[in-house]
Amino acid sequence: MERFDIPVDRRGTGSIKWDRAKGKFSTDKELIPLWIADTDFKAPPEAMEAVAGRAEHGVYGYSFAGRDYISSVAGWFNREYGLGVEESWVCPTYGVVTALYFTILALTEPGDRVMIHTPIYDPFYAIIRNTGREIVDCGLVHEDGTYRIDYERMEEQMKAGVRLLIFCNPHNPTGRVWRREELLRVAGLCSRYDVYLASDEIHCDLALFGNPFTSMLAFDEIHSRLAVYTSPGKTFSMTGLIVSNLLIPDPQLRERIMGKLRGAWIMSPNLFGMSAAKAAYDNGRDWLQEEKRYLEENSRFVSDYIGEHMPEIGVTAHEGTYLMWLDLNCLGLDGQLCGTLVEECGIGVGDGLHYGEAGRGFIRLNIGCARSLLAKALGALEQLYIKRTAGRS
Ligand SMILES: Cc1ncc(COP(=O)(O)O)c(C=O)c1O
Repeated sequence: MERFDIPVDRRGTGSIKWDRAKGKFSTDKELIPLWIADTDFKAPPEAMEAVAGRAEHGVYGYSFAGRDYISSVAGWFNREYGLGVEESWVCPTYGVVTALYFTILALTEPGDRVMIHTPIYDPFYAIIRNTGREIVDCGLVHEDGTYRIDYERMEEQMKAGVRLLIFCNPHNPTGRVWRREELLRVAGLCSRYDVYLASDEIHCDLALFGNPFTSMLAFDEIHSRLAVYTSPGKTFSMTGLIVSNLLIPDPQLRERIMGKLRGAWIMSPNLFGMSAAKAAYDNGRDWLQEEKRYLEENSRFVSDYIGEHMPEIGVTAHEGTYLMWLDLNCLGLDGQLCGTLVEECGIGVGDGLHYGEAGRGFIRLNIGCARSLLAKALGALEQLYIKRTAGRS
């Protein structure tokens, strides 16, 4: 696990996380960047070799996703999750959010209602609004340090007319890995109320602590209304390679969505991305297991440190993703939370409010980095905590 523990200097590489942090947080300070969801880890060596090998060829012309690539993607999901993915279901695209945007265009009309479970990954709000659709906010219930779905509310909202649900599993930012029974109820409601289901499973390979990941593909009864969004980006630390793969079992639905993407001339992913993804899906499993163990240790490190030194901070049960969802309302910094973390602690994190009103006073902490960086950030946070909670027993 040593390789994940060695900090990699990403400054000056055009990294959004590192090189855009000052602009993002409007500061001149050097920040510890724990915000945007990529890791500081080097990709699996097999993927690095594949990219270098392809680069060596020197001709980088228009490329397509060949049969070998498609079979690697299907093979991964079948080996890892026993999903019975057929090669025809695999639709390579460049970017999950882009694909979701075009899915909204393909399956709904302006003014239609699209449901999301908030707090949620902020681009979901943007793509629903930017396509002129209406957001149906089905807030998750926050209880006992974790989140659950309010099925009654969901059903009421669906009865009132929802065309599409954009679902997120594992869930960003809460870190929930939805259980089979929970997914079954969601799929059941979508079937009953004729709601299309776009299941964003980009974090699927990062279910931690033995929490089993279940894909919506496991439920045949929803296949006619289902598109699943996957990517090697989060899994294998290659978000900058801009590769994603939709898995769409139903041929008509597939044509509707992919036709919309093709209409905008969105074709195969980047050629280096496909080389890296294929190599990682074929040979990156051991690397991933190692990465997951490191992330679990990082997660424990953060929870233990907070439990010991900042006990009033709420740590949401962390089941998957490399994002932790922390309740900092105890600091009483409403509206100035992230600004204060920047100015006083020198850390840049995801502001909970970006994920919806339910995120007020929360932060999303990216733990996909060397532990020494987390230790530094937590030490700085502790100083602020002591100052803000002084005098309280
Ligand atoms: C749930 C979720 N979906 C999609 C994305 C982005 O995917 P892409 O870069 O492929 O558009 C992210 C990145 O953080 C994410 O967390």
